[in-house]
Amino acid sequence: MNAPTTTANDDLFAYPQDRTCPWQPSPGYQDLGRQGPLHRVRLWDGRWIWMVTGHSQARRLLADPRMSADRSRDDFPAVLPRLDAPIFKPIAIIGFDPPVHDVHRRLLAPDFSLKQVRAMRPHVEELARRLVADMLRAGPPVDLVEAYALPIPSMVISELLGVPYDDHEFFEAKTVGLLQAKSAEDAERAGRELWDYLDGLITRKEREPGGPGVLSRLASEVDEDGDLTREDLLRIALALLIGGHDTTSQMIALGVVTLLEHPGQLAALRADPGVLTAAVDELLRMVSITDVSGVRVATEDIEIDGEVIRAGDGVLVSSSMTNRDPEVFPRPYEFDVHRTRGGNAASGRQHLTFGFGIHQCLGQNLARMELEVAFSVLFEGIPDLRLGVPLEALPTRSGGTMQGVHTLPIEW
Ligand code: HEM
Repeated sequence: MNAPTTTANDDLFAYPQDRTCPWQPSPGYQDLGRQGPLHRVRLWDGRWIWMVTGHSQARRLLADPRMSADRSRDDFPAVLPRLDAPIFKPIAIIGFDPPVHDVHRRLLAPDFSLKQVRAMRPHVEELARRLVADMLRAGPPVDLVEAYALPIPSMVISELLGVPYDDHEFFEAKTVGLLQAKSAEDAERAGRELWDYLDGLITRKEREPGGPGVLSRLASEVDEDGDLTREDLLRIALALLIGGHDTTSQMIALGVVTLLEHPGQLAALRADPGVLTAAVDELLRMVSITDVSGVRVATEDIEIDGEVIRAGDGVLVSSSMTNRDPEVFPRPYEFDVHRTRGGNAASGRQHLTFGFGIHQCLGQNLARMELEVAFSVLFEGIPDLRLGVPLEALPTRSGGTMQGVHTLPIEW
């Protein structure tokens, strides 16, 4: 793809760009969003790809079978240097097209159903209460990431998969190492260590069948000539372990920051617990924690809104900007926990934070439940919670797409 003809402000077209406020897209993306729904942006390796900021264009493209998610294709864009690591090519489910994608997704769908997630809720509530009690006992200041935001999703995904939580320090550190790596080499090193760990774990599960968790169940379904090879299982284990905790833990952390910085909205949530579900969706919309709803490559020429996306062009759908399309979300930059109750009852839930189409997040029921529990138990247990440092001093992640804070000092 060629560079755009107008290059008045070259930095405007660089991708990614850091946020200056934890819950708002970078000022550069906001400028792009004002100019229209489709843009050309330049990646770290000099490649130009499309960036989609319009909500309807994003839905059309993410639902289009001519858009491939296959990361093993030579023309698939690596939007960050770390995504050029061989370990990411391919990554299970999210990085496969049908029919393999659909087969693997069907194998996992029952473990992530609403019914399954509802059954897990009392246990997650108990866990969150225990963590709050521990924080109260320890006394302020506390790092909320370490004491609360990370342990909840990390314990939940370990139990669900059947990965020993005793190993959490190892897999949490390697996941961050993989997701925050500045180079393909660093990502590959962290990814391979996780791979070897999961390989050993699955070997143990094969020797002792009938153990707890999804990985034990799948280990008994491995068939080298069928739908699930051992390598598939390892790739699935890696994808679920990585996808299952960093996203949700950082969403808890930045969700707490957003609520604390909007005391009126937090008060509205406290006054009416019936607002909780809508508030979680509004936080998901505002924070857009992954910043991206999906990356694809076009396999054929696609005409959309007067533009032609050529076969071989990379396409990145920006969740933070499509979630601020004024056609769908009135007053898009405002945080309003009552949004779903407003004029357009459905608008608050139309955010693309969990993606759209066949790759829409498999863990979204689980993530929503964990977020509801995390916010309600925290603000009930520590009513006078506040940030331990000024907002500007929060150590935020930079240089990538996954948003977050390294630590979140809190007091009460
Ligand atoms: C706030 C938390 C989360 C966010 C914002 C999030 C976001 C996303 C997004 C945007 C996609 C679509 C990517 C694409 O189309 O290329 C996705 C897919 C996926 N997510 Fe999540 N996710 C979250 C939590 C989870 C959790 C807890 C799990 C559980 C293991 C999970 C597992 C997956 C999987 C397996 C896919 C691939 C689905 C497919 O390709 O069919 N996610 N997620």
